[in-house]
Amino acid sequence: MAPKSQSSTIGRFIRDRAAYLIVGVLAIGIGIGLSGAYATVVDYTNSLQFCGNTCHEMQQTVYKEYTHSKHFRNQQGVVVACAQCHVPQNNWPGTFGHKVMASFELWNHFVLGESDPAKFEPRRLELAKKVWASFAATNARECKACHKYANMVLDDQRPSVRAQHVDAMKTDENCLDCHKGITHKKFEDDTPKKASPAGGSDFDVQ
Ligand code: HEC
Ligand code: HEC
Ligand code: HEC
Repeated sequence: MAPKSQSSTIGRFIRDRAAYLIVGVLAIGIGIGLSGAYATVVDYTNSLQFCGNTCHEMQQTVYKEYTHSKHFRNQQGVVVACAQCHVPQNNWPGTFGHKVMASFELWNHFVLGESDPAKFEPRRLELAKKVWASFAATNARECKACHKYANMVLDDQRPSVRAQHVDAMKTDENCLDCHKGITHKKFEDDTPKKASPAGGSDFDVQ
């Protein structure tokens, strides 16, 4: 076939499918736009400003306590944002699930009137238990994203602390078995304890 008629065949091929091409390109464009919008919402809702300072009930309670904790003020000036502990890191399906669940909190805030810290306070133990359960399920994945037993300079720790960590390291123990209430007010976990695994510890620090 002559080159001319070949190019017109290609031209016709493209013309016949132009609609599909346009739809395809538009769909890709919309997809990119939506992922950008989603990423922006995630970034914004993960920010310390949003998590701690948007709602009155958080500002007066968990946020205030957090600002007195070592994860906000410390010798090195490192700031650990709410989301670094509370939102699955580097895991978009996990983040998405968290955002969907967290949006139910808007119901509590706007409909049940929990924007009043006095109404929020009585629910805190119940919420803390949910957080403990989620850390138990991931074996404190978010804590361990920053703190690794293997990287602890055990010699710099007091002997009593070192002994706890040497033990905990053997079973890669959940940090919260011993470190509850370090960022927020401490609540007693009144859930009946399962029998401790051999070598496990019920030691609880303030
Ligand atoms: C984004 C990193 C990051 C995450 C996530 C994180 N930490 Fe920390 N943590 C730090 C830094 C940095 C310090 C050091 C503060 C200092 O110098 O005293 C610290 C200090 C501590 C301390 C000693 C001070 C104190 O408050 O008693 C404990 C215990 C601790 N973290 C436990 C945890 C636990 C448990 C989790 C998970 C619920 C966690 N951390 C999550 C970075 C992190
Ligand atoms: C078996 C109990 C136990 C487990 C599990 C445990 N710790 Fe500790 N940890 C302790 C005790 C006890 C202290 C001393 C607390 C104090 O002085 O208030 C301590 C102190 C610390 C300190 C401060 C170090 C210092 O020299 O004062 C950091 C940081 C810390 N733990 C991080 C963690 C992290 C992160 C995890 C999980 C990866 C973890 N711990 C798991 C018992 C434990
Ligand atoms: C170092 C990790 C860490 C940081 C940073 C952190 N939290 Fe928490 N948060 C926890 C843990 C662990 C619990 C479970 C209860 C406990 O042990 O204190 C919790 C519990 C909560 C609860 C349940 C109610 C309660 O009082 O326990 C809320 C709400 C909450 N956090 C919000 C926030 C907000 C808002 C911020 C930021 C201003 C924040 N958290 C920062 C680890 C963290």
